[in-house]
Amino acid sequence: MKRFILVIATLFLCVVSFAKTDPYDLTAGPWVTNVTDSSFTVLWTTAKTGIAFVDVVEGDLKGSWFKADKKRVYQRLGGRYYPCTLHTVTVNHLKPGTRYRYRIGGKQLIDQIDPYEYTYGFERYSAKPYEVTTFDSHASTCSFSAVNDMHLMVEKYSNLIQTESTLSKDFILLNGDIISAGDYSLDSLIYYNLGPLDKLTQKLPVMFVKGNHEGRGNVYEQANQIYPTSTREYYYTFRQGPVAFLVLDAGETGYEPSIGFSGAPAYVDYLQEQLEWAGKAVSEPSFASAPVKVCLIHVPMIGNADSANYSTLTWMAEYFVPFLNSAGIDLMVSAHKHVFSLRQPGELGNNFPIFVNSNHDRLEFEADAHSVHIRTYGEDGKESHSFDLSL
Ligand SMILES: [Fe+2]
Repeated sequence: MKRFILVIATLFLCVVSFAKTDPYDLTAGPWVTNVTDSSFTVLWTTAKTGIAFVDVVEGDLKGSWFKADKKRVYQRLGGRYYPCTLHTVTVNHLKPGTRYRYRIGGKQLIDQIDPYEYTYGFERYSAKPYEVTTFDSHASTCSFSAVNDMHLMVEKYSNLIQTESTLSKDFILLNGDIISAGDYSLDSLIYYNLGPLDKLTQKLPVMFVKGNHEGRGNVYEQANQIYPTSTREYYYTFRQGPVAFLVLDAGETGYEPSIGFSGAPAYVDYLQEQLEWAGKAVSEPSFASAPVKVCLIHVPMIGNADSANYSTLTWMAEYFVPFLNSAGIDLMVSAHKHVFSLRQPGELGNNFPIFVNSNHDRLEFEADAHSVHIRTYGEDGKESHSFDLSL
């Protein structure tokens, strides 16, 4: 009888132990975005509704996770925890250029019968720690790998991005049109965006630039939810090492009389709003002091021959390009055209080169305070284009 009780007790402990380390209904993630010198944002989804938290440890994990000096940050809104399935936790007060380990966790909501005291299940958390390194505006270099215009082609996306070279970069950049117009759920949006990155998201931040196709279909607001930004808009700035990035959203580019584009002329108001915001953003010390200034925008500011029906493109060429010239932008990295092109300074009133990556190449960017180097590679791993800029 004693032996029987011992076996049952052992089995019970095994079940409890497994439950404690199971990633509690994790359906996607985690992924990290919105990184600064002192913060990062972790996101993930769960099948069941619950409250969430992130446990963070500075530096390399030496010894047991359980004995490490951890900082716990809960997902909160208005000062309180709240149950949901898309979890977003921003960890602040961190050191620049520092590697952190983190685990995600939470408690499943059991019921809300008493509005003053919800009932939650046991605390559970991810089975293993993930890692992320904060940005460092004093770092001597900046690097990223980028893809764009994947348009639901997850195999191509995966083939392009899954390389050792990507792993060595500071972050991954998605330069828009990762999806196409269509009917999505939040889960499918996340699948097309982050599925091909697979385990890369467990080490590298993902920074996002909205394409025109993210403005179509039924989830146009949710791309912003899976890639929250410092401005809560699709336009924002960030800095890594010597490079300050100005991220813009060209909005819709479609043929304006088409009702399928949901009122394209309204996008000019949106562009005007961005221009006003950008005027302040480029004056911020962290941007203005950067030795290298790069504008990231999915749609290149090269206008359109049919200016009557593509007025947003004309507007950008007329108003944004002079502004970017005056802001000292050194380079624009764009996408959208599906073929490579390089516009030299002066071609279209631009004082900066415009590099347009194709939809079948991975773009690798490396910069220091005096130069920028871009190389692109196809699915076969062969270099397809190169560009060097001395500053
Ligand atoms: Fe596009």
